[in-house]
Amino acid sequence: MLRRPRRNRKSEAVRNLVEENSVSVNDLIFPLFLIDGVNKKVEVGSMPGIYRFSQDLMLKEIEECMKLGIMAFDVFPAYPESLKTATASESWNPETFYLKALREIKKQFPEVCLMSDVAMDPYSSDGHDGLVKNGKILNDETLEILGRMSLAQAEAGVDILGPSDMMDGRVGHIRRLLDESGFTDTSIMSYTAKYASAFYGPFRDALDSAPKFGDKKTYQMNPANAREALIEADLDAEEGADFLMVKPALSYLDIIKLLGDHSPLPIAAYNVSGEYSMVKAAAANGWLNSERAMLEILLSIKRSGAKIILSYFAKEFALLKK
Ligand code: PBG
Repeated sequence: MLRRPRRNRKSEAVRNLVEENSVSVNDLIFPLFLIDGVNKKVEVGSMPGIYRFSQDLMLKEIEECMKLGIMAFDVFPAYPESLKTATASESWNPETFYLKALREIKKQFPEVCLMSDVAMDPYSSDGHDGLVKNGKILNDETLEILGRMSLAQAEAGVDILGPSDMMDGRVGHIRRLLDESGFTDTSIMSYTAKYASAFYGPFRDALDSAPKFGDKKTYQMNPANAREALIEADLDAEEGADFLMVKPALSYLDIIKLLGDHSPLPIAAYNVSGEYSMVKAAAANGWLNSERAMLEILLSIKRSGAKIILSYFAKEFALLKK
């Protein structure tokens, strides 16, 4: 036999030489859930090992993660029902606990890359990412709200804004407002191809942010569509996005590859809550090895062309590599 591919697999040293892809802590963004209060750390029932932290304990968690080499964090707030309104007005209140925590994180750890979420759902009494009128999600009216929210987050010192709402034209609108207000260095990581997915279930548990009626199919993408992601990618690039994101990751590796082949912008992928919970649930039953599954999942996302991975596995991965 002239060709024996197994020769390149014969030892770990040889396998390492021919290894095409690898994951590093430098590639990871760790999503964190914030709650109001002091000295609170509450596990998310559907996400074993993932907690909702009050600001004080989140600062400790970030410090711990930094020691493991994680330098990028995406903070999501969980608001009580009493603070939710139809217009998500709490989102731009400078004294709201989310903005206070973002300011404090940047003050204590100026070297971290801090990312925030731009969408109405955590603050909306309707649980939707956009403004609701007569059961419809309004696009252009939502942009105004997203703009105010973005400016408030930029003022708090956020490095990367993450518009996750899927309204048309939001990247351009936010970019313009940021530039007009002097925030020319604030980046935008657009949720470019965000699909209407079942895999967000545990996240909506964590934030208590499930839509109060209907679903998100008039703004999030149809899982059946791939080419449509190119329309979103072109618009985001034209509108000034610094990064393109695909979400979820695992059922959409083809979309990650498609965008990576299509655009020179760095591609990020969000390894979402349901993808984390599936592994943890199976591992709890002894059905698979959580650590090996994690490594394989992160590697597959990287191999598909994502440079950046947002993942709830970030800390576990960093601990393992330490
Ligand atoms: C909301 C938002 C969602 C996620 C990130 N931002 C949920 C949704 O669109 O309903 C999901 C993240 C995850 O599942 O880990 N704008």
